[in-house]
Amino acid sequence: MANTAVMDRLVSLAKRRGFVFQSSEIYGGLGSVWDYGPLGVELKKNLKERWWRAMVHEREDIEGVDAAILMHSKVWEASGHVAGFADPLVDCKTCKNRFRADDERLKGTPGTPEARCPVCGNQGTLTAPRLFNLMFKTFMGPVEEEAAVVYLRPETAQGIYVNYLNVLQSSRQKVPFGIAQIGKAFRNEITPGNFIFRTREFEQAEMQFLVRPSEDTRWFEYWREQRLQWHIGLGITPAKLRFHQHGPQELAHYAKAAFDIEYQFPFGWQEFEGIHNRTDFDLSRHQQASGKKLEYVDTATNQRFIPYIIETSMGVDRLMLVVLVDGYHEETVEGELRVVLRLHPALAPIKAGIFPLVNKDGMPEMARRLYDDLHRRFTVFFDHGGSIGRRYRRQDEAGTPFGITVDGQSLTDQTVTVRDRDTLAQARVGADRLVEYLRDRLES
Ligand code: GAP
Repeated sequence: MANTAVMDRLVSLAKRRGFVFQSSEIYGGLGSVWDYGPLGVELKKNLKERWWRAMVHEREDIEGVDAAILMHSKVWEASGHVAGFADPLVDCKTCKNRFRADDERLKGTPGTPEARCPVCGNQGTLTAPRLFNLMFKTFMGPVEEEAAVVYLRPETAQGIYVNYLNVLQSSRQKVPFGIAQIGKAFRNEITPGNFIFRTREFEQAEMQFLVRPSEDTRWFEYWREQRLQWHIGLGITPAKLRFHQHGPQELAHYAKAAFDIEYQFPFGWQEFEGIHNRTDFDLSRHQQASGKKLEYVDTATNQRFIPYIIETSMGVDRLMLVVLVDGYHEETVEGELRVVLRLHPALAPIKAGIFPLVNKDGMPEMARRLYDDLHRRFTVFFDHGGSIGRRYRRQDEAGTPFGITVDGQSLTDQTVTVRDRDTLAQARVGADRLVEYLRDRLES
């Protein structure tokens, strides 16, 4: 199947089954902004919970925070985002279209009479590149003036840096330790696209690990490996994952070293998480700009230093796209096309579908009783409409790992069949053992 066809079918499935909808669709949509539907919100929540568990709950050396999206505008001056978080752009004076200066469609050097606009075709109408800041700006309070400008954060990291001493003092952590956060970030991207891959409003799961300056390389290597293994643990095809090391031209203004974790999307290898050595750049700049000491005092040695930061920064929406793309399969089973989302059971929005084989002879009643019992513990879905094959296929598309069917035998011996989404094998399980059976398989 052509790569674009895969994306088209995935986008269509995502809408049909309630994973992702276009924002403000009835008004024609809002450019590169997406909403998550009933299944999408569950998948996203499961991803975030799993990350939070691995980062915060299962470790003693990482604390969580949830900082506000709006921050003092001085934060973004000190962080370098006001001056440096910009893309060079070219405008066409005739058709008013705007392009990134590195857009391959531009012919000739923008700003010279030879350059031709790739949209309207006019020559000599393209301006020389100008820097365009990616931060969304708004005003706080009733007066729309320069002093009231606030930004929607373009990364969650800064909310951690400005709180690092608060966390240190309230948690009694010692360097090395980390602070984790999940939250929305906003960027006025010029060339967004590829569905939820590059959007203007997105969510990040970031962790800032504070270390002694002399130990930065060791921790950088450690986190690089940890993060790759975490993704492999989600069941993502290892052959479709790789590291990409940033060369000097690619490094962000704050980074000494950076690796992306990339996935082989249908539209090519692309980053979905970054591991950065941000050195003491951010904390030093905040110390200087705020006039507040942000040094760490090692009580054992009496040494004072500004910690180095090793950052892991994952795009939650991009990871969603990774698991959707990686899980999407079309196959022929008994002569019929089956579309299946092979999501890791822990990520699946619905853990099991519960079906009476036919709508009579007490089967719906027994299935309903099972549902009432199971839904307190798992997200399960009761479905008695249509043929059993059709009901299975609906759950395959939703990524539901198990299908529980109440059939004639169930009524006599209190067993049900449990169908495995991936192998299609059916096991007979006692109704009273279902909770245990599902728990064992969901927690692995
Ligand atoms: N705090 C560091 C930082 O923000 P980044 O490489 O600019 O680093 C980190 O972004 C991650 O955030 C990316 O790997 C990507 O997954 C996600 N991300 C960044 N821009 C995005 C966008 N416009 N849409 C969706 N995800 C985005």
